[in-house]
Amino acid sequence: MINKLLADRSLPPVKEPSEMLEIMLREVYGYLPDPPEKLTFEVMHSQKTCAGKATLKNMVAHCLVKGKEFSFPFTAVIPTNSKKVPFFVHINFRSDVPDRYMPTEELIDNGFAVFSFCHREVTYDNEDMSDGIYGILYPDGKRGLHDAGKVAVWAWAAQRVMDYAQTLGDLLDLSKGVVCGHSRLGKTALLAAATDSRFWCAYSNDSGCTGAAVSRGKRGESVTVINNAFPLWFCENYKKYAHKEYAMPFDQHYLVGAIAPRYVCIGSATEDIWADPVSENLCCAAASPVYEKMGKKGFVHNGELAKAGESFFEGSIGYHLREGSHYFSRTDWLKLIEFLKSKM
Ligand code: GCU
Repeated sequence: MINKLLADRSLPPVKEPSEMLEIMLREVYGYLPDPPEKLTFEVMHSQKTCAGKATLKNMVAHCLVKGKEFSFPFTAVIPTNSKKVPFFVHINFRSDVPDRYMPTEELIDNGFAVFSFCHREVTYDNEDMSDGIYGILYPDGKRGLHDAGKVAVWAWAAQRVMDYAQTLGDLLDLSKGVVCGHSRLGKTALLAAATDSRFWCAYSNDSGCTGAAVSRGKRGESVTVINNAFPLWFCENYKKYAHKEYAMPFDQHYLVGAIAPRYVCIGSATEDIWADPVSENLCCAAASPVYEKMGKKGFVHNGELAKAGESFFEGSIGYHLREGSHYFSRTDWLKLIEFLKSKM
């Protein structure tokens, strides 16, 4: 069934991860800004949290970008009594922790630290070219064809949080950093991992179009629709593919494959037709040969599309389908933890 559906999509064959990444940056996301010229971290406030099991720190990352100071806040929640823990960098829709879509105490109880920042604190999620770091990158309000879209800039910020994690080698297991996000921020998480090998794993929740779903034959949102609705998310060059999905020299399995040989986990929801679970499931299968060429198990499945409640976690690419609508649910977090623990 999967093989037949895949054949119908006529996806381009996979290439080397670095080649696929280059194509995705040039054609879709734009090149990420350079790392900051200078980077320091400031602790604004520190307190115990999660019934004393963790320390919560309100942090600010001070970055020097093109000679200008740019700062954004993030939160660190780190278990108090365990050392060398794996950790999440959660690209979040909200600034506050606790957050109803991030079961922080449960993450701590499962032995993880979590870092979280709100994408809007980096650059606002609208057509404003002057907000946040975007205003520093493009002071005259103009972007070149291949310049970073907002998704690329949010991914860049996740890498700055990873820079902070690198300073905590006594508390964290630096080889087990997981970048994760939901929807537009799931697209961002995949890109952040593809462009930064310090991430051990990426998790995309319901990221859909221009995220974990292949665009050829996709239901719901299309390349045309996403570029019209969100003209700054991706680079200008991507707009030329409106109504031309089958002519693209890539598809979204190139983004997933660019993370190889590291882990990727994709979560879908049955009612999320806009994101399209089937096209996300097929993307996992289409990226699998990259891993197989590297001698790894890629996407291991039973030949059928996943049913509600089912997960395929045996290979380096994991996939799970849960019932329900478009949000980052506790179920998704627990599934992700199950995937990660099976790889530790
Ligand atoms: C819109 C958009 C999607 C995006 C989603 C989200 O629905 O069309 O591409 O993933 O917002 O971020 O919640």
